[in-house]
Amino acid sequence: MLLNLCNNAIDAIYARHGSAGGNLGVEAGPTENNMVLIKVTDDGCGVDDDNLKKIFSPFFTTKPVGQGTGLGLSICFGIVTAMGGKMEVDSKPGEGTTFSVQLPMAG
Ligand SMILES: Nc1ncnc2c1ncn2[C@@H]1O[C@H](COP(=O)(O)OP(=O)(O)OP(=O)(O)O)[C@@H](O)[C@H]1O
Ligand SMILES: [Mg+2]
Repeated sequence: MLLNLCNNAIDAIYARHGSAGGNLGVEAGPTENNMVLIKVTDDGCGVDDDNLKKIFSPFFTTKPVGQGTGLGLSICFGIVTAMGGKMEVDSKPGEGTTFSVQLPMAG
C-alpha cells in the first residue's frame, strides 16, 4: 500500500518538477480512536476535482498506456476497507496531494 502511494507521489512530483525533484513525506502515528494514521504527502501536480471523484475507481488512470493500469489505488482502497480501515485523499491542482490511511491497531 505504501509503495503504491509513494510510486504515485513520485510520478506526480516528476510531472510537476521534472528531474529537479520535489518533496515526498510519510508520517505515521496513533489516533484517539485506537487507529494508526498514515499520511503520504507530496508537492506534485495535484488532482483536479473531477478526477478526485474517480481516483479510487478501478482502471481510472491519467498515465499513458503501458505506464499505468489505474488499479493501484482501487486495490489499496479495497484492502484498507477490508481491514476495517479508512482511506481518504485531499488534493490541490498545482500544489500537491495527501493520502490519509487509518488502520486498526493490531492486538
Ligand atoms: N499523489 C498523486 N498525485 C497526483 N495524482 C495522483 C496521485 N496519486 C494518484 N493520482 C492520480 O490517480 C490516478 C490513479 O492512480 P492509481 O494508482 O490507481 O493508478 P495509476 O498510478 O495510474 O496506475 P497503476 O495501476 O500503475 O498504479 C493516477 O493515474 C493519477 O492521475
Ligand atoms: Mg499507481
